[in-house]
Amino acid sequence: MTGNNGGPVARNAATGAGRGDAGGTGGTAPGPTGEATRAVHAGLPEAEPYRAPMPGPVLAAHYHLPGDPTGAEYAYGRDSNPTWTALERAVAELEDPTGGARAVAFGSGMAAISAALLALTGPGDTVVLPADGYNLLQRVRERLEAGGVTVSTVPTPGPEALRAVESATNLRMLWLETPSNPGLDVCDVRELAAAAHARGALVAVDNTLATPLGQRPLELGADLSVASGTKALNGHGDVLLGYVAARDASVIERVVGWRKIVGAIPGPMEAWLVHRGLATLELRTSRQQTNALAVAEALSDRTATRGDVTGVRYPGLPGDPAHALAARQMRRFGCVIGFTLPDRGFAERFLAALRIVEEATSFGGVRSTAERRGRWTTPGGASADAVAEGFVRMSMGVEDPADLVTDVRRALEIARGGA
Ligand SMILES: Cc1ncc(COP(=O)(O)O)c(C=O)c1O
Repeated sequence: MTGNNGGPVARNAATGAGRGDAGGTGGTAPGPTGEATRAVHAGLPEAEPYRAPMPGPVLAAHYHLPGDPTGAEYAYGRDSNPTWTALERAVAELEDPTGGARAVAFGSGMAAISAALLALTGPGDTVVLPADGYNLLQRVRERLEAGGVTVSTVPTPGPEALRAVESATNLRMLWLETPSNPGLDVCDVRELAAAAHARGALVAVDNTLATPLGQRPLELGADLSVASGTKALNGHGDVLLGYVAARDASVIERVVGWRKIVGAIPGPMEAWLVHRGLATLELRTSRQQTNALAVAEALSDRTATRGDVTGVRYPGLPGDPAHALAARQMRRFGCVIGFTLPDRGFAERFLAALRIVEEATSFGGVRSTAERRGRWTTPGGASADAVAEGFVRMSMGVEDPADLVTDVRRALEIARGGA
């Protein structure tokens, strides 16, 4: 689809015709089936002699626009941009390698989330949100309610979500965040999507933590995959970005229309950086998963030997309560682990003693980071996340696993000694 009204939202094409995919028209060589290959080539144009393999960012507020603008692919910079188009094509291809999805890029994950929730719901609708999802969802809830939408919240694990779906009146959207941030709980997307569809509702999954290489919500039955590209998708901690991916053209149309009127657009340079970074997405997420498992195992050992680390959560850990379900619906388990230290002071000493792992918020970057989530307080003084004072969320980067394990063990000893 193109046009200055809605802006371009890419049809998957990067590995399609001309690159020789089996279903395409351009050749006999098989198209890429491996995730690393797909990520390296996603969204890139056909090779042309003497042209850059990846065109640079297009910095333009407007485009040459002679005569009647109807159907113009690029007219004004708030509507469309060729650098967004390339990234959107890439993201759509990773979220849905069958070629059925389109993606819309936004200036941040929250811009994408707000677009999906606010553009697709209206007065009289009911929306079910996760009670333990990204904490700003509660602020979006206020907006939804002010607009006449009934909102109920349910925890990510367990049967409550299914019950909420089955009992809701005028259910318009079920919003899932799996794995959830920061609790790392997982829900059954297939089962919940089937129940929500039976009631005529849309299903959206926040795919931030998993990335499209770690989980494909549309394949699992969701209608929308929404994510913050600020995290592991970009992976370098230097850009904010978000996206919505969906197969239904009318969903995409409304989300694009919302982006246009709100102006929640990504900068071309940011979109270009994220696209460039996709080439290493498979490498990064593989190493991050290796590191997360190594550190989660070291922390679990510590639970057994010292008892000062409790509640270690990582969906890739065989003993994790979410592991069996995660293994069924995820392709990789992500880079985030959570655990609880005895109290706030212990957690603060631990964070200060880390040498490789940096104390910072956010997650998904090449440099490992950690923070005490309880430090984020709401205006009422409570933590924005319902977590213990000693709860630490740690995001594993791409450093050497042994260095990270040593860093964490050392910092735990220092924190314990300072008690
Ligand atoms: C799961 C999840 N979704 C959405 C967001 C919001 O993304 P952004 O910071 O890019 O607006 C975050 C940010 O931490 C997140 O963790």
